[in-house]
Amino acid sequence: MCSYAPDAACDGRNGSNIMPHVCSSPSPSEWDAQYRLGRWSYLRNVAESGHYAVIAGYARKYLSRGRVLDVACGEGVLYDYLHPASVGQYVGIDCSRTAIERFADRCTGLDLSCTTIEQYDPGQNFDGIIFNEILYYLAEPIQTLLRYSRFLTESGILIVSMYCHEHDIARGCSTAVGSIWQEIDGGPWALLDETKVSSMLHQRSWIIRALRPGSPR
Ligand SMILES: C[S@@+](CC[C@H](N)C(=O)[O-])C[C@H]1O[C@@H](n2cnc3c(N)ncnc32)[C@H](O)[C@@H]1O
Repeated sequence: MCSYAPDAACDGRNGSNIMPHVCSSPSPSEWDAQYRLGRWSYLRNVAESGHYAVIAGYARKYLSRGRVLDVACGEGVLYDYLHPASVGQYVGIDCSRTAIERFADRCTGLDLSCTTIEQYDPGQNFDGIIFNEILYYLAEPIQTLLRYSRFLTESGILIVSMYCHEHDIARGCSTAVGSIWQEIDGGPWALLDETKVSSMLHQRSWIIRALRPGSPR
């Protein structure tokens, strides 16, 4: 059960954090400060809705009352998009205490923890693990995906979403986001589906993939 009062519109993709992989990853206290300043409020804007909706669609397709881990859940924007039939148990982790506390204040009955991705050890398996707008902040994105793949049930899936410029979409590029997708291509995951979603009005795009541990394409 969640309550939500929208923040004043602010569009962070016009700000310096638009391409996070060119910056060093903020510390947890820096993330806290950014949340307090409302820098991430724009994630609730309609321009952002496409990738959340695709993630929720994959969850609806592949998960049935599943146990879901939302890695770097922030203030829980994605949670509001997830269909109740997809999620039996929702677990969210994030290194920002501010974000987690806001999420917990807004939504009751969820398993939310303030911890880093690097430190977290769930002690349970999940039917779906979601990496939404986080891999490009990590020093070792592929190692992280490999480690978290071990926390999946036998039929469990990963859902990965990353913001991208058009030049990242053309594979073979040398940018960090393109490199992460290329490394995922070569990793031990079977591609269940891949979607590119664009806000034509706001000219921003994301690629979202559903992956299952197994042989690559
Ligand atoms: C771009 S925001 C995305 C938040 C959320 N996935 C969403 O779409 O609403 C990135 C999030 O990653 C969190 N984060 C960054 N590095 C982290 C780490 N090493 N461990 C845990 N959380 C981290 C930040 O606190 C922030 O909430």
